[in-house]
Amino acid sequence: MSHTTSTPVDPKVFRDVLGHYPTGVVVVTGREADGEILAMVVGTFNSVSLDPPLVSFMPMKTSRTFERMLNCSSLCINILGGEQEDIVLTVAQRWENKLDGIDWFPSPSGDPVLSESVAWIDARIATTVEAGDHWIALCEVHDMAVTNPVSPLIFFQGGYGSFVCTSLMARMDHEILPAIHAAHAARSDVEDLANEIGCEVVVFTAVSCDEMAAVLSATGPGVDRGLGLAGRVPMVPPIGDTYLFDHGDTDQQRWVDKLRGAPEEVKQVHRDRLEFVREHGYLVSFLPSEGDSAYDDLRRATREYDTARLTPSQERRIRESIASSAVDYRPRPLTDDDTYDIGSLLIPIRDANGKHSMTLRLAQLPAGRTGAEVKGWVLRARRVAELLGAPTRTGTAA
Ligand SMILES: Cc1cc2nc3c(=O)[nH]c(=O)nc-3n(C[C@H](O)[C@H](O)[C@H](O)COP(=O)(O)O)c2cc1C
Repeated sequence: MSHTTSTPVDPKVFRDVLGHYPTGVVVVTGREADGEILAMVVGTFNSVSLDPPLVSFMPMKTSRTFERMLNCSSLCINILGGEQEDIVLTVAQRWENKLDGIDWFPSPSGDPVLSESVAWIDARIATTVEAGDHWIALCEVHDMAVTNPVSPLIFFQGGYGSFVCTSLMARMDHEILPAIHAAHAARSDVEDLANEIGCEVVVFTAVSCDEMAAVLSATGPGVDRGLGLAGRVPMVPPIGDTYLFDHGDTDQQRWVDKLRGAPEEVKQVHRDRLEFVREHGYLVSFLPSEGDSAYDDLRRATREYDTARLTPSQERRIRESIASSAVDYRPRPLTDDDTYDIGSLLIPIRDANGKHSMTLRLAQLPAGRTGAEVKGWVLRARRVAELLGAPTRTGTAA
């Protein structure tokens, strides 16, 4: 392959193109021999090597702060959080006394860790490599810790932002507006259902293959509204079966795969539920002996999920705790004379396009009811589901 002499790149184009690539933001701190505190905002920080542990950043050759840092016996790299944009502006604009008025505490090596930083890394410059108008400062890592695991600050196209999980980006109400309209048009029927059975009734809609949102809820007399699920719930088994049951194998496999690490029999329960709802048009879950408190973990996890700005690791932990519920999700037909403690009753709502984008969920149901009574709830709930969407398929409640 032959190379022709490359044409010089226009600096404006260089900046523009690379401005489309985001970076994190760190503040590198250090101390001079006389105790003077140094600090510098850096967007070129990177992890380099695990063995030995090395990180790097790239100071401009004109940086006076870095010139002074070369004489420091140690440096501390502070990874900034999404709420620390003001610190960047303060530090980057000052010539000296860069941390005046900013809260910090000393790292093990004694260099400043800014309060609220996501993490700190104690390091020592091992080598500086010349790289055009910058240096590459290669640093040995001596100690490090995460002190505030929030979403990090991100610098992109000259502006600041923070990391948001893809599933959370779908949290735009206009996307679920049609479902909100459909649900509110049938509001009185939903309220009647909650009052007649004496339970909580919630209409959920799928926001994406990863998330459902509550668009309407009603509670019967004496039912605790505060015990419901959160407004947004991640679509991880057991949540989402009434949405995915008529999807293709790939989507269903992806959904079951969200139970990473779960035993095969647990995954099979959720595959069986997809089959059951396809055949019968409803799903129930059964409460264990501890009763409705078996849902406590699920409630807590969905509430936590509902607070935006989760980091991916927090989201993973929440998804795992949802999957490890004590509720019995094994699908089985109801027998008329047996008594049941039903945890939840789900009916997929078929919309005008023939898709099951919405779900009717009944919870906090009266305990110790016969199979015949529960089948009565199914038929009653199915009529409301028909009003909420286009007519649903007519399955049998058995
Ligand atoms: C978001 C952001 C990222 C920056 N990244 C770098 C960087 O990677 N390297 C660098 O030398 N300066 C970077 N700067 C500029 C420095 O923070 C500082 O303003 C510059 O080094 C000049 O200051 P000094 O002469 O006091 O060192 C960045 C500034 C901002 C606001």
